[in-house]
Amino acid sequence: QEDVFKKIVSHCKEYGFVFPSSELYDGLGAVYDYGQNGVELKNNIKQYWWQSMVQLHDNIVGLDSAIFMHPTIWKASGHVDAFNDPLIDNRDSKKRYRADVLIEDQIAKYDEKIEKEVAKARKRFGDNFDEAKYRETSERVLEHQAKRDALEERYKEAMNGTDLQALKQIILDEEIVDPISGTRNWTDVRQFNLMFKTSMGSTADGSSDIYLRPETAQGIFVNYLNVQKTGRMKIPFGIAQIGKAFRNEIVARQFIFRMREFEQMEMQFFVKPGTEIDWFKNWKEMRMKWHQALGFGAENYRFHDHEKLAFYANAATDIEFKMPFGFKEVEGIHSRTNYDLTQHEKFSGKSIKYFDPETKESYTPYVIETSIGVDRMYLSVMCHAYQEEQLENGETRTVLKLPAALAPVKLAVLPLIKKDGLPEKAREIMNDLKFHFNCKYEEKDTIGKRYRRQDAIGTPYCITIDHETLTDNCVTLRDRDTMKQERVPISELRSLIEDKVTI
Ligand code: GAP
Repeated sequence: QEDVFKKIVSHCKEYGFVFPSSELYDGLGAVYDYGQNGVELKNNIKQYWWQSMVQLHDNIVGLDSAIFMHPTIWKASGHVDAFNDPLIDNRDSKKRYRADVLIEDQIAKYDEKIEKEVAKARKRFGDNFDEAKYRETSERVLEHQAKRDALEERYKEAMNGTDLQALKQIILDEEIVDPISGTRNWTDVRQFNLMFKTSMGSTADGSSDIYLRPETAQGIFVNYLNVQKTGRMKIPFGIAQIGKAFRNEIVARQFIFRMREFEQMEMQFFVKPGTEIDWFKNWKEMRMKWHQALGFGAENYRFHDHEKLAFYANAATDIEFKMPFGFKEVEGIHSRTNYDLTQHEKFSGKSIKYFDPETKESYTPYVIETSIGVDRMYLSVMCHAYQEEQLENGETRTVLKLPAALAPVKLAVLPLIKKDGLPEKAREIMNDLKFHFNCKYEEKDTIGKRYRRQDAIGTPYCITIDHETLTDNCVTLRDRDTMKQERVPISELRSLIEDKVTI
């Protein structure tokens, strides 16, 4: 599985999806650039989300708030005082690690051990294997499971408290080794604020510290009344936003899973107090359906309900996706009560209550938030789409089985050879279709090689223009997944393809 992940990372680079940022200068940790195909896929993911949130809901509207915000906003939201990660300094290597990440890795190791046991048994018993029963009865599995659960319990308790020594003790007891120095000599555990700070205005006089936003949500909270009044929105209603967020993550790992500059797609849904738990359940189901509509298989998703909640929240869950390195959080759904709005009232000294025109009452709405990382969603899509297929002729083909709606290029236009008027005919077809979806013209190399290149970037359809095209006005249409080819009139191409690739 780890090998597959390495292949996906290098595939992303080789085919123009994701490059390490500032690579020319040896890169910048946990920062990445999206290449020519990557930007298309990312835009399609964002469009897929935006349409399902804003276009399909009468009562949800969009917003694009600034990254820089008044510094007091981050005091009100609690990020200045409490947006921390427990950090471990290692005396030997002078490296800093996030304690939570190291312990989560340790939990994942127990999970891996369990899965290995199950895989071994599956091989041994073949068709007669009763997996559920094996998981419940195998001594080895139960032993790993018990250790895992005990560790998780201790970890949750430690994270909930203020005594950082409890975390250190877990690191020592579990004999977690410093990944760089290979030693077990952990020293200091302390808190580290994840916000990036910079200053606005001249630094000599009157400069003020400001932060790069660590979430887009606060831009929605501080604008909620502007939007409500100017849009004449009635509760319940939502505000959706897509934008960059920044966190000074200590441990850069797992490619674009944990980044220092990333993008979020967040939606805050404002509801009447007392109705929030029903709305929370509603959004939980709706968001899971949205993920599953991509067709990656329900077994690759699960909820992780939070038992221990932030003090202001009254319900929270994560939607996790099965990445090659285990089930990981892709989206969070939180019932945040009226905490944020109340804090902004307190810190700004201004009333931002909602006036209900029907009951003539004013109140501070409660909020359900859905928050998904674009880059994590992107990684889940890539991990699922990447496949190596064994062909009948013995060759292996690498293909990205992306949902057609998300694919960077929808149609490749390929003249069979570079002469006899075929390129001109191909250009003519392309010049018509490019107004409707993203097409790519390619005439270099053999047709077989060109097909493989399109497979590798996930292009769902290729058309080949041959000599017959000049007389019968038909082309050969090739399907990425089945590799089947059929003869199709040029006049039917648009509706045929548009039907399948439109979000
Ligand atoms: N407003 C709520 C909020 O920001 P969060 O759980 O901290 O909640 C929401 O983040 C989502 O943002 C996560 O589920 C994840 O997909 C994404 N995310 C958070 N930190 C990230 C990082 N360092 N790199 C990439 N994505 C991240």
